[in-house]
Amino acid sequence: MKILCVIGTRPEAIKMAPVILALQQEPWAEVRVLATAQHRHMLDQVNQFFGITPDIDLDIMRPNQALTELTARLLLKLDEVLENERPDVVLVQGDTTTVMSVSLACFYRRIPIGHVEAGLRTWDIQNPFPEEANRVITGKLARWHFAPTEGSRQNLLRDGVQDADIVVTGNTVIDALLTSASKDLEIGIELDPGKRMVLVTSHRRENFGEPFRNICRALRTLAENNADVQFLYPVHPNPNVKDVAYEFLDELPNVVLCAPLDYAPFIAAMKRAHIILTDSGGVQEEAPALGKPVLVLRSETERPEAVEQGVVKLVGSDYDLIVNEAQRLLDDESAYRAMARGISPYGDGQASRRIVATLRRDCA
Ligand code: UD1
Ligand code: UDP
Repeated sequence: MKILCVIGTRPEAIKMAPVILALQQEPWAEVRVLATAQHRHMLDQVNQFFGITPDIDLDIMRPNQALTELTARLLLKLDEVLENERPDVVLVQGDTTTVMSVSLACFYRRIPIGHVEAGLRTWDIQNPFPEEANRVITGKLARWHFAPTEGSRQNLLRDGVQDADIVVTGNTVIDALLTSASKDLEIGIELDPGKRMVLVTSHRRENFGEPFRNICRALRTLAENNADVQFLYPVHPNPNVKDVAYEFLDELPNVVLCAPLDYAPFIAAMKRAHIILTDSGGVQEEAPALGKPVLVLRSETERPEAVEQGVVKLVGSDYDLIVNEAQRLLDDESAYRAMARGISPYGDGQASRRIVATLRRDCA
């Protein structure tokens, strides 16, 4: 049974790694890894960390790539790979352009798809953009839906997916985190040991332009008002993010802007952080498990479980809301403790085992 596991971006590589490593232990599975390399460096460093070497690499990334040309180039190259490889099953993870393109290319060739992290929905096709559309399309085409939570199972049922095709597995991001976070990890960036640290990440396309400028203005105000706090911001290399972040935040004495951190140093940074401000999906899943309060720089989330449990709060790109909520967590010990509880609504570290067990049942 030939199983092709596809990864395109940093979060796909992190969240697919536990599945690849578990499948490689299965005698019935011939595992092949395809990197579209929609991300380049950010993908490679994750594969190095997990000891995964892609069998095929499409090297697709171009600077500041646009969605249509990225999709078009992906579809053509993917079809060639499917023609040569002829996999029995293809696994994709998440909701990127890679995931949507692979799903479509497989559908055209009638190759069954397993969707890891299935069923996340905001029910607003514009938000997040284009990820909501990507996962809806993949959800229509997949044969197996590996849903991280009961809520995502309910979303799939509402979307017309058969119950028998859904398995609630937990999110593989927690498998990856638990095997990595116990190691002795270094951030590799000098921080003031006497200061609390606020960790920031941001990259969402729907925030590009004025919303992201508002976020940067709010961060600037927070940094100016809290000289006793250090802000660590590994800046996403997308030029729409990088140029604005440096314009607003460079040269503030208590703001450290840096290139994206590799996965292990980033886990170390999350562990060291007092609070986290982010629009990342993966960080919303990891931070609660590490007991870190998260303010989400988005107006909607497809990950409501941690919000419902009170450990994650949505603040959008609203300047006042970001400044006020972050300041409250910095000043009010009881508000902080209420959000720093250390719960893991997205998984128990066994998701990849459940995914592999399902594939073994149906394919071996
Ligand atoms: C992509 C995904 C998004 C996911 C995010 C994870 C799409 C449409 N977006 O967004 O869902 O949350 O990855 O980070 O699939 N770049 C580099 N080096 C890298 C990676 C990116 O220089 O290693 C720069 C390039 O200029 C590239 C740009 O970032 O063109 C954008 O990359 P792209 O994958 O299109 O979008 P992201 O914003 O990274
Ligand atoms: N991450 C990382 N280095 C960074 C920022 C994030 O390794 O500088 C990791 C993080 O631990 C998480 C994943 O990248 O597992 C999230 O990726 P990203 O925020 O790029 O994408 P999203 O999850 O929003 O799709």
